[in-house]
Amino acid sequence: MSNNIVVAIDGYSSCGKSTLAKALAKRLHFIYVDSGAMYRAVALYFLRNNIDLDNHKQIAEALKNIHLNFHSRDYETHITLNDEEVSEEIRQMPVSEKVSTVATIREVRHEMVKQQQRMGKSKNIVMDGRDIGTAVFPDAPVKFFMTADPKIRAERRYKELLPKNPDITLEDVFENLAHRDYQDTTRKESPLVRAEDAIILDNTDLTPAEQLLFALSAIEPFL
Ligand code: DC
Repeated sequence: MSNNIVVAIDGYSSCGKSTLAKALAKRLHFIYVDSGAMYRAVALYFLRNNIDLDNHKQIAEALKNIHLNFHSRDYETHITLNDEEVSEEIRQMPVSEKVSTVATIREVRHEMVKQQQRMGKSKNIVMDGRDIGTAVFPDAPVKFFMTADPKIRAERRYKELLPKNPDITLEDVFENLAHRDYQDTTRKESPLVRAEDAIILDNTDLTPAEQLLFALSAIEPFL
């Protein structure tokens, strides 16, 4: 049996999951895996190749042609889609608008979960997403469920997106987040729910440093 540790972080969009996950990975020398980036890269492939999201045969075929790889440098997410670096493109609006729908597709989830479980088999990892503590690693020793005020979340995301998307409005971002929350929590396949044993972390009024300390103290007993 392997003794590696998996830290599972789930929660709503733009709640600071990746900020916490990266900081933890850095502090603990764990590998950081951004599972959302995988769904985003699949959505990008589907967009580029005009995959019909109602055609399950086409989706299954497309999944066979998608090869994703993480290159961990400096604890940032560097993901390649068939050897092309797509880390920036997967954060743009066309992908953000499509990804929740792509993430509802059973075949897509099945393939991503399989790949994610493989990554956590023998290494210490911090993985963030929506179903990490419930479906991917239900036995993870430490799970966090993150949440924050929706207005604060939209403002944080808006500030992040604005430099590269000067035409974007706060309303667009708020609506996109609301739409994603709805899809993430109501979809049939692995909806976003708190695992019973997940620790709730509401960071509306917490700084990144404060949330890191909170999380470290929960992980410490398992190190
Ligand atoms: O965390 P993010 O915003 O990059 O995630 C992109 C989308 O992927 C989001 O709509 C939810 C979905 N997702 C998922 O369904 N399961 C995961 N484990 C991670 C992300």
